[in-house]
Amino acid sequence: MSAPPDFHSGINQGVAPATYGQGERPPRGDYAQARTDYTCDQDWAAYSAADHDLYRRLYERQAAQLPGLACEEFIDAVKHLGEPTHIPHFDALSDTLYRATRWQVVAVPGLIPEEAFFALLSQRRFPVTGWIRKPEEFDYVVEPDVFHDLFGHVPLLFNPMFADYMQAYGAGGLKASRLESCEYLARLYWYTVEFGLIDTPAGLRAYGAGILSSAGELRHSVTSPAPQRLGFDLERIMRTRYKIDSYQASYFVIDSFRQLIDATAPDFTPVYERVSRLGELSAEARLATDQLR
Ligand SMILES: [Fe+2]
Repeated sequence: MSAPPDFHSGINQGVAPATYGQGERPPRGDYAQARTDYTCDQDWAAYSAADHDLYRRLYERQAAQLPGLACEEFIDAVKHLGEPTHIPHFDALSDTLYRATRWQVVAVPGLIPEEAFFALLSQRRFPVTGWIRKPEEFDYVVEPDVFHDLFGHVPLLFNPMFADYMQAYGAGGLKASRLESCEYLARLYWYTVEFGLIDTPAGLRAYGAGILSSAGELRHSVTSPAPQRLGFDLERIMRTRYKIDSYQASYFVIDSFRQLIDATAPDFTPVYERVSRLGELSAEARLATDQLR
């Protein structure tokens, strides 16, 4: 799931077309097929040979880049997606995933409203967009497609700790909706689940889906001197705006998935209050208290 202003937001009214981000573009998915929880059937037979071939080319380009740039947990789990010769059947992938961490993948038409997204995560069901980008979008697609959602997100759902983090995030999201603090939580998602880096004994590695499914940002995020890389800091992240149309200006680095779990376990209510008081920061901001990594 992804789109401005974050990778999972949108406003839907019944099965009417979603609006999201700047609210100008029409949605790409077929929302008429969606159930009330926004899941739908994966119309696997509708994929053309060209769709499967596009998926394979995207997969192979990314897989070739993973060594030395992606975290080992991700590299180890990519194989669960199966042979890249075709777009996976979500049902079969769900069976494998459920046996590993009790997560499942479910098809959705595209972007779905935040509350629906949070609800699915809290049920350990990861929404995956059914459609695949067009060939001319090989290098960049604005909205999340099946390749981003599957290749970027699903491998780490095989990791028990990360899988628990994702469920906790969904539960926290439902609560944040009630507190009208979704924007802060969206930044946490953005700077961890989508664009997170992790420090490992072998060096800095990527674990965020937005990075791992991006042809250019994978190497950029790990090796370029241009962006700043800061130690994970929950409140700092919640204050920090992000880039939706370029590589990130700042990345936040965790030391372990355990750190992510521990830092996000406490009740966020007082955190939201402090963050609201402190005010937001630009994507490029540098504070005296930042830990440069
Ligand atoms: Fe995503």
